[in-house]
Amino acid sequence: MEMPEMPACLIAADEIYEIVRRLSVEITTYYRHCPQELVVVGLLKGSFIFMADLVRQIELPLVVDFLGASSYGESAASSGQVHLTMDLAANIAGRDVLLIEDIVDTGITIEAVRRLLERRQPRSIKVCSFLSKPACRRVNVQVDFIGKEIDNAFVVGYGLDYAQNFRNLPFIGKIELSGKR
Ligand code: IMP
Ligand code: MG
Repeated sequence: MEMPEMPACLIAADEIYEIVRRLSVEITTYYRHCPQELVVVGLLKGSFIFMADLVRQIELPLVVDFLGASSYGESAASSGQVHLTMDLAANIAGRDVLLIEDIVDTGITIEAVRRLLERRQPRSIKVCSFLSKPACRRVNVQVDFIGKEIDNAFVVGYGLDYAQNFRNLPFIGKIELSGKR
């Protein structure tokens, strides 16, 4: 596969810091009366860097866990089928769960994961995504905490990949995918 050129910066590291800071204040305020530790669940792999930054700024007792999910083919995915590639270690029944996503695009993945986890009867479940592309939504999904809304571009860095590459860029960059989007 041909690798695109070095991505052009869309969100610089200092802006990322400000976004994470703001989200952490919103989350700390929202969950301040949470009866037990908050369960922060990262969706692998894309959320790992964002989540590492975010949890260090949340001023509440919390535990972390991870979930691996991949969607089936488009039509199956839009009916809400996700395939778990790695399940949680924690039992979330009766707990407050905050799902961490890197980016919400069509909304299919996060909506399916949210429904799947709801069946385990958590006390509450909310979604925090670093990025959102509202113009690309195909299912109606509530994203409770949004870092930044962006236009329909393909972005990489800060955990996000193109064919598993570029996750380590310390900024969000934009790449041109010829004819793909
Ligand atoms: P959705 O199910 O369409 O909302 O897709 C969400 C998933 O697609 C994210 O968790 C990402 O893994 C991936 N994705 C969507 N847009 C982008 C992008 O611009 N760059 C990198 N990954 C993306
Ligand atoms: Mg992802």
